[in-house]
Amino acid sequence: MTTIGILGTGRMGVRLAQMFTKVGQPVILGSRDSARSAQIVEGLGQTNLAAGSYEEAASADIILPAMFLRDGMLETLEPLRSRFDGKVYIDISNPFNDTYTDFILPWDTSGAEQIQHRFPKTRVVGAFKNVWWEVFDAPTFGDTVSDVFVVSDDIEAKGAFLKLIANTPFRYIDAGRLANARTIERMTLLSGELGQRYGFFPRMNYKLLGEAKQLAST
Ligand SMILES: NC(=O)c1ccc[n+]([C@@H]2O[C@H](COP(=O)([O-])OP(=O)(O)OC[C@H]3O[C@@H](n4cnc5c(N)ncnc54)[C@H](OP(=O)(O)O)[C@@H]3O)[C@@H](O)[C@H]2O)c1
Repeated sequence: MTTIGILGTGRMGVRLAQMFTKVGQPVILGSRDSARSAQIVEGLGQTNLAAGSYEEAASADIILPAMFLRDGMLETLEPLRSRFDGKVYIDISNPFNDTYTDFILPWDTSGAEQIQHRFPKTRVVGAFKNVWWEVFDAPTFGDTVSDVFVVSDDIEAKGAFLKLIANTPFRYIDAGRLANARTIERMTLLSGELGQRYGFFPRMNYKLLGEAKQLAST
């Protein structure tokens, strides 16, 4: 079975590790401090969840770095490059600044594109960028299931991702090419601002509404 290597044990890393292991995917949760990942993994008590270093997590079949670009993510990943060349890389990054008021990247690029540019041999799939961390604890709002927008220029990698997420408690929307991450990441910046204004931060999400049109008979 496909192993997912998650690098980083913060809000997103731990929740994604829980979500994937609950649907039966083996996960290696990697940390800068292996003692920290070991403690977290022990606490979660999932048999298909293993603790490790970043090197060990980067050796998994599919990698998912869960750290911030502003914290030097690209530089941290650089020494691991050979371990994830050719693999599907699930990119969840939003290029927030330290105060979460803006992005550290200009409008004509995205975290996803920067990662693909820096690691051209990886197969980047952008996902979960629009999902704030507490939403993982309860992904439905009443009867409404949260959407996850998925972007990639690599159709096969997107397909591999969509297999992985079967039975996870979200609806996945194919949001097209990787450059659409510019919009998705900025949607998250906006939802953060709106959530603060209306008092529901950090439990909010986007839902794409629509009805299939009745096809006219020919
Ligand atoms: N928070 C959200 O709601 C949310 C939503 C969507 C996407 N994202 C994206 O997910 C990624 C992770 O977000 P997060 O909220 O999980 O972050 P976080 O809680 O701050 O955790 C980030 C993790 O990165 C690792 N790390 C590596 N180098 C670091 C450094 N120099 N300083 C601090 N931490 C470092 C740490 O794990 P170890 O110490 O174990 O190595 C840390 O726990 C970001 O790219 C963010 O944009 C977040």
